Amino acid sequence: MSRKKIALIGGGQIGGVLAQLIALKQLGDVVLYDVVEDLPQGKTLDIAEAARVNGFDSKLTGTNSYKDIARADLVIITAGLPRKPGMSRDDLLVTNAKIMKSVAEGVKEYAPKAIAIIISNPLDAMVTLFKKVSGFPANRVVGQAGILDSSRFSTFIAWELGVSVKDVNALVLGGHGDTMVPIVRYANVNGIPVMELLERKYKDKIKAAEVMKAMVDRTKMAGGEVVKLLKTGSAFYSPAASAIQMAEAIINDEKRLISACAYLNGEFGVTGYYVGVPVVLGDTGVEKVIEFSLDQEEQALMDNSVNAVKKLVEDMDRLGF
Ligand code: APR
Repeated sequence: MSRKKIALIGGGQIGGVLAQLIALKQLGDVVLYDVVEDLPQGKTLDIAEAARVNGFDSKLTGTNSYKDIARADLVIITAGLPRKPGMSRDDLLVTNAKIMKSVAEGVKEYAPKAIAIIISNPLDAMVTLFKKVSGFPANRVVGQAGILDSSRFSTFIAWELGVSVKDVNALVLGGHGDTMVPIVRYANVNGIPVMELLERKYKDKIKAAEVMKAMVDRTKMAGGEVVKLLKTGSAFYSPAASAIQMAEAIINDEKRLISACAYLNGEFGVTGYYVGVPVVLGDTGVEKVIEFSLDQEEQALMDNSVNAVKKLVEDMDRLGF
């Protein structure tokens, strides 16, 4: 059986970590594309030279030509600028839309059968634009966000409760922006509701609710917290790790149920937009969107988040993308 071909468009911070993780996990052979001359060649050479130490056989190629991504099975896109301190993801719209348009054209021409995972921000708009320009079917275009936002939420819960994060399940839905919707009601530690554990810890319902609110707020702003500390770029280890979990689900046909930015056809009351929802990921991409009932408050937060996504997409349309 030959290895899968995985094309990474964008060889910056996230692209480099993606390439290394794919090699370490021997998920496939990597082609790393970037517009900057020599950068992807340098990064892939560096990673490849550790093959003996790390014990992998995956091949890594760096390129500045879309021809080299020909017939890729999976394409992971990080091309685009990251934000600087004080910027929201939405501030990247114009710059990154121009980049995403050219990327979608390149992928459409050379890897028309690939499944595409998009990471570039503002995420929901970039996924929408990639689908529009590439003409790919909706199941083959998915955005990475919910899995990372859910991981951040789970991490904060684990720290607060002093339990292994492996036992925490916490879902975040909605757009990948400040309006995202952490679902508190279903957050649990091995099935036990987090709210109950917090109430027992603090023996006070109000205090427990305050602690949860602080974790929800930190989750929403978690990307910005990292940007503020790094000063010259945005989070890259955790977005890369999250996209790799999606890539594994697709390549190994794992049917993982995770939160991802997927095209909605009426689910959660939304039609024709890409928003973060639970999906099943397998070797055909997004195999199913999983719906569940939201309570009134959750639905209101979801509607608010969907409206923010719609506004961004409308802005993008108005700008002619
Ligand atoms: N085609 C391909 N690559 C491009 C293009 C293009 N048209 N324009 C820019 N790039 C490359 C840059 O040369 C750079 O190497 O995209 C890479 C982006 O890397 P970084 O600046 O290091 O950003 P990174 O941290 O990897 O984040 C990439 O993902 O999470 C989002 O907000 C983040 O939009 C950002 C993206």
